[in-house]
Amino acid sequence: MTYASSTTRGRWLAPALLLVVAAFLAYSLPPYFTGGSRVEPTFALHYPLLVGHVILGGIAMVAAVAQLWPGLRRRYPAVHRRTGRVYVGAAVPAAASAIVIGAATPFGPVLAASNVVLGALWLWFTLNGLAAARRRSFAEHRRHMVRSATLTLSVITNRIWSPIIFLAFHPLQDTVFGGSEEHYLWFVAGTAGWLGWLIPLAVVSWWLDRKPVMATSPNP
Ligand code: HEM
Repeated sequence: MTYASSTTRGRWLAPALLLVVAAFLAYSLPPYFTGGSRVEPTFALHYPLLVGHVILGGIAMVAAVAQLWPGLRRRYPAVHRRTGRVYVGAAVPAAASAIVIGAATPFGPVLAASNVVLGALWLWFTLNGLAAARRRSFAEHRRHMVRSATLTLSVITNRIWSPIIFLAFHPLQDTVFGGSEEHYLWFVAGTAGWLGWLIPLAVVSWWLDRKPVMATSPNP
């Protein structure tokens, strides 16, 4: 892959991502500004942690798209650095709160395991990306941050899988799940949870590993 072709692709990828992110946030966030929720609380601090997670996650998503925008990164490196700090400042507490509320999710143990692993990886890639930038290891910084941003944005693909799995496996509710609606919904939420981030992370990791290393500028 040449530098020119990756730049051309980046030109439409970032605006397209921004549109999808804007649509996701416009649908997902409003209830949390007015005391509402789509998730039943499971412990006393669940709701404030969820609201914090949702708002910081939204900031991290917008910052992630800005960071992936090649033109912005190349032409305005100072903006890239500042937005990067906003990204880390939002993603780290959003991931920490995701681990806590994720372990206590009302949607079953399979999703709980996915939430905890995903939250821990989100934290790991973000902190390692920050540490690599501080060491000025920009190739390493880029690899960690591309994975971190992929996990941030995977919240969108997560939501896409739920209705597909719900409809595709519905006949199994009476047989495999003994008619239990709760266990069937746990299966749907858990499978959608794992697929939602494992597939984008696998695709992006494959892309990062096969792409020849480009000449890196002094700024990331
Ligand atoms: C990538 C790591 C993430 C993890 C591990 C995670 C985990 C969670 C968990 C555990 C919940 C509560 C639902 C449940 O109990 O399963 C939740 C809800 C939510 N999260 Fe995240 N999340 C992540 C990223 C994000 C991002 C980047 C956003 C962007 C805004 C976001 C937005 C939301 C929203 C809106 C809800 C409420 C559910 C709804 O209203 O549909 N999450 N998340």
